[in-house]
Formats: sequence, C-alpha cells, structure tokens
Amino acid sequence: MPVQVVDHPLAAARLATMRDKGTDNPAFRAALSDLTQMLVYEALADAPSTQVTIQTPIATCTGSRLAKPPLLVPVLRAGLGMVEQAHAMVPEALVGFVGVARDEATATPVPYLESLPDDLAGQPVFVLDPMLATGGSMLHTIELLVARNATDITVLCVVSAPEGIAALEKSGHPVRLVVGAVDDGLNEASYIVPGLGDAGDRQFGPR
Ligand code: PRP
Ligand code: URA
Repeated sequence: MPVQVVDHPLAAARLATMRDKGTDNPAFRAALSDLTQMLVYEALADAPSTQVTIQTPIATCTGSRLAKPPLLVPVLRAGLGMVEQAHAMVPEALVGFVGVARDEATATPVPYLESLPDDLAGQPVFVLDPMLATGGSMLHTIELLVARNATDITVLCVVSAPEGIAALEKSGHPVRLVVGAVDDGLNEASYIVPGLGDAGDRQFGPR
C-alpha cells in the first residue's frame, strides 16, 4: 500500500500545535483545518486533469481542471473537522458521510451512520479521519466503499500508528494513505503514542 508522509515545515508546525495538550479546542480545530489543506494538496498532486480553453482578459489560452473530483467522506465525528477545508479546496466535490465510534473498552468500531452514493465505480474517494489507530474504524469505512464498487480510495489522516497501516495493508483493499506522521505505536488503551489524544474530544468535547 502506498504511504505518503507529508514532509513540510508548515505541516510539522500544525502537527506540533495539535499534539500539544495545552492547545484549546478552537486552536486545535484551526490547526487541523490548516493541515487538511496540506494533506489534500499532496493527495491531489498526481490527479488527472482535463484541458480547457480559457479566455483571459488579454488572450485565449489553455487551462486545466480536475478530471474527476474525489468524493469526500469524513468519518464522524473527528473527520468533520477536515471536510470544510477539503471542500473549500475542491468545491465541486460531492460529500458522503460515515459515522463510527470506537467502543473504548474494546477499541472495536461501532457504526452508527452511513450516507453514501450507491455506486462508486470509477469514482475516486478521499476518506477524511485525523486518526488511524488500530485501523478498525477505517477498515469498516473502506468496506462500505468497496461494497459500492470503489477501487480508488485515498485515506487522509493526521497521525497513524504502524498497527493501523498494517491492518489496511493486510486487507488487500485498493487504498493509499496520505498522512502527517507515522507514530511509534499504540498504548494499552489503543491510543496512538505520542499521538494527540482523542481527536473528536479535542475538537468538540467529550462524548
Ligand atoms: C477516533 C478517530 C478514528 C478512530 C481511530 O474516533 O477519529 O475514527 O478513533 O481508531 P481505530 O483506528 O482504532 O478505529 P472515535 O471512535 O474516538 O470517535 P469520535 O470521532 O466520535 O471521537
Ligand atoms: N482515536 C483517537 O482519537 N486518538 C487515538 O489516539 C486513537 C483513536
């Protein structure tokens, strides 16, 4: 599975803000939004484009547009903090939603929402979730997409654990990962170490 780590001083600075336990909710959301912009930019670096003819105020020239804007799929709750910025960058994108919350005692995903187009054949999909820990929530999401014929799935995360990456690799699904950092691993409660804590709680408060 291709894994692309966004290696840029501005991405590192926003990530440091998000990791800092002294960062309050508004500043955390702002840093997540900024970092999402960089993840989307990187994820679209090789996206096919179509040529169009444009009339500038001076002359006619050739321009380009994204050939196939990705479907954006935030994984609730924490992925909600990424969708506005991703949508600002790709305004023509459609948006689907998946809701899944980890059972904190077992770290297994508990699905509660799916709102996706029926057929995703030929449709690139960007899944937005700041955290890839055990990979359970992401695998659930990917399985919903594959069941709808998706074959071009990009996962955009802020922080991932090697365990989550290994789980996606093992699944054999057609996925690539664009991520801000690959951390050391998981603790006994399946939180990413050093990580940034609970990305949903840090944006919206405890649930
Ligand atoms: C977090 C995070 C991922 C999931 C990652 O969500 O946003 O969806 O945990 O963990 P996993 O890889 O072990 O599945 P959480 O379940 O805490 O829900 P929330 O976004 O509503 O806070
Ligand atoms: N979910 C989070 O929000 N943070 C972690 O470290 C693991 C799962």
